Amino acid sequence: MPISEKIRASMERSSWIRKMFEEGIERKAKFGPENVFDFSLGNPDLEPPSKALDVLVEVAKDTTPGQHAYMPNAGFSETRQAVADYLNTFNGSRFSSGDVIMTVGAGGGLNVIFKAILNPQDEVIIPSPYFVEYNSYLDNHQGVPKVVACHADFSLNLEAISEAVSEKTRAVLINSPHNPTGRVYRKEELAELSKLLDHHSAKLGKPIYLVSDEPYRKIIYDGIVVPSVFDAYRESIVVTSFSKDLSLPGERIGYIAVNPEIADKTLLVGGMVFCNRILGFVNAPALMQRAIRHLLEESVDISIYQRRRDIFCEGLEAAGYEFQKPEGAFYLFPRSPVADDAEFVRALQEENILTVPGTGFGGPGHFRIAYCVEDKVIEKALPGFKRVMDKYR
Ligand SMILES: Cc1ncc(COP(=O)(O)O)c(C=O)c1O
Repeated sequence: MPISEKIRASMERSSWIRKMFEEGIERKAKFGPENVFDFSLGNPDLEPPSKALDVLVEVAKDTTPGQHAYMPNAGFSETRQAVADYLNTFNGSRFSSGDVIMTVGAGGGLNVIFKAILNPQDEVIIPSPYFVEYNSYLDNHQGVPKVVACHADFSLNLEAISEAVSEKTRAVLINSPHNPTGRVYRKEELAELSKLLDHHSAKLGKPIYLVSDEPYRKIIYDGIVVPSVFDAYRESIVVTSFSKDLSLPGERIGYIAVNPEIADKTLLVGGMVFCNRILGFVNAPALMQRAIRHLLEESVDISIYQRRRDIFCEGLEAAGYEFQKPEGAFYLFPRSPVADDAEFVRALQEENILTVPGTGFGGPGHFRIAYCVEDKVIEKALPGFKRVMDKYR
């Protein structure tokens, strides 16, 4: 076999989204792309804001020598400072450029964090359902996921998290707004989580980190506020990107920000900067770093995603689906009317509707809909959703 047994097995396990993607290609060829309703991928369909494209052109024109050279592994100091200033506008904490590391998207950032903090077999507690790549990111650095189910409304099950803590616990990894449920964790929830982690950290005699993955922070609805984990917990690290809010996932740009008050900050940040280098990223893309410096306040038009959420929720509700209304991100995670979510997803496929079984996200009995698609795709798909539900009721 040309690849390792381990990678082969991981490919098999994480193949749900890929399977749907391939199914989509086949069905589009057979039935015509306009007759296939593909809700399988979280790939934003909106184009980046025109200001982002203008800034990209501007920075590309800059002929000052050294713009495309290697740089400090943490990134351009001007960009790190701009991110720190931006963070200071909505966090109580005082950030400086030294608290920020520019990364190759949020995925790159998560790998940097885990590479830096994990000893072999260290455990990271992950509330489920969850973004499935977390398993691979942890495995890359010999970490072990300790998956803990959320409550039925997708709020954090703090008791279960507390019970999952062991001597090996190194971090808790949360994601808000959440993929695949659209949940936004409340300030009180984070405060309780913080108390719990303080308690266990003191007992273990070492800090348990709270890693917060926040690429959807700006994609929120109905005026909901995403509370700051920095305000809630000292040993906190945020990782984010511009993939979703600026529709730039292919450009691979994001950052890590550590709580300015975090313990042993110099060593922790130094370790992560070193890992950015040795993971082969070396540094985040230079051109994008120079661009996003001017784009920190920007985002795509979030009201478009909110409108799509509303169209979907209304249609699914009328068809008899049970779900929690998403508060952010662009995913819905309805209940499957049968226990076997893969069976239900196959039934939707017969209507040329492509979704992903919840099992693929550690949330069996559900399925995920990514509604980063045009309104008309949602509108045309809704009768099919209803027909399939009618068969199961
Ligand atoms: C929850 C979550 N975290 C991280 C990522 C990775 O983001 P990026 O493309 O910035 O690496 C995604 C992408 O879908 C995601 O949904």
